[in-house]
Parts: sequence; structure tokens; C-alpha cells
Amino acid sequence: MNDALFQPLRIGPYDLPHRVLMAPLTRSRAQQPGDAPWDLNVEYYRQRSSASLILTEATQVSPRGKGYANTPGIYSDEQVAGWKRVTEVVHANGGRIFAQLWHVGRISHPALQPDGELPVAPSSIRPNGQTYIEIGKGRVDIPTPRALAADELPGIVEDYRRAARNALRAGFDGVQLHGANGYLIDQFLRNGSNQRNDEYGGSVENRMRFPLAVVDALIEELGPERVAVRVSPVSGYNDMQDSDPGTVFAAFAAELSRRRIAFLEIVRMGAAGGPLSAEEEAVVQRVEEAFDGVLVANGHFDADSAAAFVAAGRADAVSFGRMFIANPDLPERIRNGVRELNEPQPKQFYGGGPEGYVDYPTIH
Ligand SMILES: Cc1cc2nc3c(=O)[nH]c(=O)nc-3n(C[C@H](O)[C@H](O)[C@H](O)COP(=O)(O)O)c2cc1C
Repeated sequence: MNDALFQPLRIGPYDLPHRVLMAPLTRSRAQQPGDAPWDLNVEYYRQRSSASLILTEATQVSPRGKGYANTPGIYSDEQVAGWKRVTEVVHANGGRIFAQLWHVGRISHPALQPDGELPVAPSSIRPNGQTYIEIGKGRVDIPTPRALAADELPGIVEDYRRAARNALRAGFDGVQLHGANGYLIDQFLRNGSNQRNDEYGGSVENRMRFPLAVVDALIEELGPERVAVRVSPVSGYNDMQDSDPGTVFAAFAAELSRRRIAFLEIVRMGAAGGPLSAEEEAVVQRVEEAFDGVLVANGHFDADSAAAFVAAGRADAVSFGRMFIANPDLPERIRNGVRELNEPQPKQFYGGGPEGYVDYPTIH
């Protein structure tokens, strides 16, 4: 019944054995100080290496790219060494892993920024939202960010480029640019957060300029076949909106398609966080249709709906988030038609120790 998910899939230079991917999942358990992966994270990814491809938790490309406590980076040698241990254990188990590259833009707080500075963004528009600056201490309001000057943008492109080089040094099979969920790339694409009147704002072409400069830098470092992108065209997460998301994201998808990237992952999350409304579905379909290449779908899938979606040719694969947090052996469970799944424990999603992280049981 779930056969459609258990056909091989070629992504870039890799032959994946099936189509059940692990979605990127922030867990805020990097070693402190230093934001480097360590033993606990190695064990977590080891347990989940039967995913056909793991997309790591979002990983900041620079100290300024950080927006929550204890998330990992990929700019220091210590971080690269930590990630190398993760990729080695995943590869030893026959798995594949891409690093999700992240700059949070305005979704941050001075307490997380170098020298206590304000977070940066395309425009100085405050998102209505909160972040956590210390584990276990609740959430704090996000302040109004500082708008980036145009001449600062090439430096941020270079931060992404260094992250791509570091990903290679750390043994990753590729990278995924985090263009979803209201972070820096998404902030440039959508006009709710980008109200610039220079060459990086206004028209769709201008709003895509910085995101595509980043994509091109990653491609220069790794080749298009090792670069993936994630978008969430209609998600309202992190106070995002756009007056015409279908047009900007279809144009972006067409540009990515022309560049022959490894795959595009589309988050099927609606404005209110739930599944798509009929109107949102039409927008997302337009984006899917604009992309000619491997499509990965994400959001609110279970085994049956994922298999049906792939069988219908709507996507080539599905990535699972919450189900993979709670079920490290998710592919085996789906393949065997196991109905009993562990329930994810949201209280233990962000920060903490092994509980709710590496102690979810497997069936064997
Ligand atoms: C705890 C948690 C952390 C997440 N962290 C990330 C992240 O780092 N990067 C990202 O692109 N999406 C992140 N997401 C979104 C998930 O990748 C996914 O889009 C969402 O959970 C919907 O998929 P699901 O229904 O299979 O869980 C996160 C979601 C959760 C629940």
C-alpha cells in the first residue's frame, strides 16, 4: 500500500533507497559554549540514519545568523569537527545527510547577537513574535531589526559560501538553503518583510536578487546537484505574508529549476499553521508546477497520505518532521505498515538533555 514510498530515488549524484526523508528540525541541544554538535547530537542522528536523506536542523552560517538558544553553527572549526562526527556515523549506517544552512535575519534578539547588536533584516519591520534566549527561561519579544545596507549583502553571501565549504569539509552530501519559515531568505522574498526601494526590493526580480545570489554561491562551491532549497510559500509562521505569494514563489521555483538544483522542498503549511486551504493549495500547486526537478513535499503527512501524494505524481518524496522526532525507525515502521507510532513530546522539542531526544523507542 505504501509501495510508492519504497521506490529508489535519484537525487543529484545519489541513489536513495526510498522516499521517506527526515525534515529539518531545530532541537537546541548543541554543546555550550560554541554551538558545536557533540555526543548527544551524534547519537540522535545515528538513530535516524535510516531516513533516505536527513536534512539537519537549521544551522547558522554566522554568529549573526543565530536566533534561538543552543542551535548549532557551521562557521567555526569546532563546529565542523562536531558535524564530521555526525556525517561519519550516518554514512557508516548507509545514510545520506544534507546540512540546512540558516540565517535567521530579524527572528533573533540582541542577547543572541555579537556585541548585543540588533538583529538584521531586509527592512526594519518588527515581526510580531518571540524567541527563546536561554533554555528553560520562556520566550522574549523580538525587537525591531536594523535594515541591512546593500553593501552588507555580499558579506552575507560569503558567510553562506564559507558554510558550504565547511559542509564539504564536514563530510555532508550536500546543503539545503533554508528559504522557508520567515528567516532571512524568506524575508527578502516576501513583501510583508521586504519593503526596500533599492535593487533588492520592490519587483519580484529584485526581491529574488539576494536569495539567488546565495543559491549561486552555494552552486559555485558544491555544484547544483548538491544544493537543495526549502520554501514555505503560504506559511504565516514568524509573522510572514505576501500580497501575491504565487507569483514570487513560482518565479523563484522557475529560477531554481533553470539552475538544476538537487531538489526543491515545499512546506505545505497554511497561513495559520494548519493544512492548506483550497486557495493556498492553488498557490502551492502553482509553485510545484513551476519547478522542473525533484520535488519533496512536507507538512501534515502521515504514511498513507504521503504514499498517495507520491503515487499521484504530486511529489517525488515526502519529508517527515514530528513523526521522525518520535520515531527514529520511521521508514521501517511505514514499510511494515506499523500503525502504532510514538507520540512526539512538544515540551522536549527545544533544549534539554537526552529525554525526548534520544530515548524514543524503536520497534526492534
Ligand atoms: C521542533 C521543530 C523544529 C523545527 N525546526 C525546523 C528547522 O530547523 N528548519 C526548518 O526548515 N523547519 C523546521 N521545522 C518545520 C518542520 O521541518 C516541518 O516543516 C513541520 O514540522 C511540518 O512537518 P510535519 O507535519 O511532518 O511535522 C521544525 C518543526 C518542529 C516541530
